[in-house]
Amino acid sequence: MTNKTMILGIETSCDETAAAVIRGGNEIVSSVISSQIESHKRFGGVVPEIASRHHVEQMTLVVEEALEQASCSMDDIDAIAVTEGPGLVGALIIGVNTAKALAFAHQKPLVGVHHIAGHIYANRLVTEMQFPLLSLVVSGGHTELVLMRDHGSFEVIGETRDDAAGEAYDKVARTIGLPYPGGPHIDRLAHEGTPSIKLPRAWLEEGSYDFSFSGLKSAVINTLHNAEQRGEEIDVKDLAASFQDSVIDVLTEKTKRAAQEYGVKQVLLAGGVAANKGLRSRLTEMFDKMDGVELVIPPLSLCTDNAAMIAAAGAVHFEQGRRSSLGMNANPGLELK
Ligand code: KG4
Ligand code: ZN
Repeated sequence: MTNKTMILGIETSCDETAAAVIRGGNEIVSSVISSQIESHKRFGGVVPEIASRHHVEQMTLVVEEALEQASCSMDDIDAIAVTEGPGLVGALIIGVNTAKALAFAHQKPLVGVHHIAGHIYANRLVTEMQFPLLSLVVSGGHTELVLMRDHGSFEVIGETRDDAAGEAYDKVARTIGLPYPGGPHIDRLAHEGTPSIKLPRAWLEEGSYDFSFSGLKSAVINTLHNAEQRGEEIDVKDLAASFQDSVIDVLTEKTKRAAQEYGVKQVLLAGGVAANKGLRSRLTEMFDKMDGVELVIPPLSLCTDNAAMIAAAGAVHFEQGRRSSLGMNANPGLELK
């Protein structure tokens, strides 16, 4: 890849319609995100049919805006990278079909990208990657520890067996009566309370890097319901702090153990839950004490869904000669490999 290679990235896997142009694999030239959160809020979560409709309305505008902000046209673009999966099928299809239409009309190479590869590669927009590295991916749909021995090579060494971390945050927030998405609200409350309520931590079998958050989520809900039945007041700030403490204990401890076992040079934080202040500060504290391991945490704007991260992962695939055909389909169950 020359350092002039221009990649157009497109992302529509959930509730953001996004397009971006990046240069040389790691420089953001433009990044446009149209969020639908307001439309989904009153339903307490993302409604797939509404998401698809918004993507259809916004997609062309967002791509045009990304090219305009980058002061370039499709002629300047070397390849188009798009989220192929996983995600909501009706949402993914809009991005995939847009990318295919642009690739066909302008005779450009097409590169399908795994959404999680995108979240991990958001870090390359911050600093150069050094291998082997470990990425802790924590989003609304995923909780994974991914080992990378080189560019474009992904080994999932641990994943959630039930709820994703973000999903647990959103469900707990909903029970407390907080608006969607609940993660940032719990994070804020947690900082005002103390972790005084005893809640479980699912360590699972010895040596496992898998996660499980559904037991913790049920314990929070039961604590609230039991207090209600007894007519007792429960301090939601303390409950939020206790829940957050339990999630962070497990996430950080398993990340530390895996980083030591695999002797990684970097630990990269990725995904929407990477915006969590408690998680950011606990990881920073932990890796400050660990020699030889660099912790990378992207800015908040690169943690949540965006197309610059898809273009960054796409740039590496493009360089490695990976191409998708115009027969590519949205794949909601796409595996990371
Ligand atoms: O990566 P993302 O934007 O979308 C997916 O690919 O899933 O992640 C969204 C998730 C939501 O569950 C949201 O509640 C959570 O990230 N989130 C947070 C925080 N900010 C966003 N969770 C905990 N603390 C936060 N500050
Ligand atoms: Zn995401």
